[in-house]
Amino acid sequence: MKVWNAAKIMASKGVARLPCVTVYDFAFARLADAAGIPLLLVGDSLGMAVLGHASTLPVTMSDMLHHTAAVARGTVSALVVADMPFLSYQVSISEALRNAGRFLQEAGADAVKVEGGAYRAELVRTLVQNGIPALGHIGLTPQSCNVLGGYKVQGKTRADADRLIADGEALAAAGVFAIILECVPPDIAAAVTASVPVPVIGIGAGSACDGQILVMHDLLGLTSGRSPKFVKAYADLAGTVCGAFAAYAKEVREGVYPASEHTYAPVGAEQT
Ligand code: KIV
Repeated sequence: MKVWNAAKIMASKGVARLPCVTVYDFAFARLADAAGIPLLLVGDSLGMAVLGHASTLPVTMSDMLHHTAAVARGTVSALVVADMPFLSYQVSISEALRNAGRFLQEAGADAVKVEGGAYRAELVRTLVQNGIPALGHIGLTPQSCNVLGGYKVQGKTRADADRLIADGEALAAAGVFAIILECVPPDIAAAVTASVPVPVIGIGAGSACDGQILVMHDLLGLTSGRSPKFVKAYADLAGTVCGAFAAYAKEVREGVYPASEHTYAPVGAEQT
């Protein structure tokens, strides 16, 4: 049994803050898991961070299954959550249930995430009743970027803030084990966090949430270009990796690499 499961994440509310991160492959899943991160999200941010798309909309079930399986193979302790991609859960509840089940059955995920508020309550109830833990996602929901007019801070009016609180409450009542709250002002995030009995995991939502999540590439300084205001980079892997590639290229051009210690002994000589 894993150290972390959906029930344990849910029971962390008010007990311990939850540091969460997105990962997309075996190697980084192993590192994040070894670092003690309790929840690894295979986000559909895969589309931008890894696959080079301009948004999350082109990401497919097949992309997500492929990457979720790699993450699951690299994870021993953390809860692995697969993000359901655009149109994999919106068309009908039965199609959503079938697709969600594939993440657990074929890819080894422990739970799935769906974007949307109160109108997703019926779907969440169906998933949970059929043995699939569900993580909610409200506030800025990137799959709706075309409706929202871009990637903008949400909950800026009193009516929007009230809707966010109602959405959180509806999702919690439907059975989500936690809710991601993206890009909302900190006072609204605090109100949502106080109004639901499950952990609220913030991204760009201030410090009052029960946990935080960041996209791995932002956290590790692997992103090219400008990051959102809420991002804190804990490393400069872009600089480190670029430096390593450049040093390798220089040594190959100059004939420095490979040296004798990187070379097999000639035929008949003793191998070291
Ligand atoms: O796809 C993703 O990475 C996400 C996080 C930003 C929460 O949904």
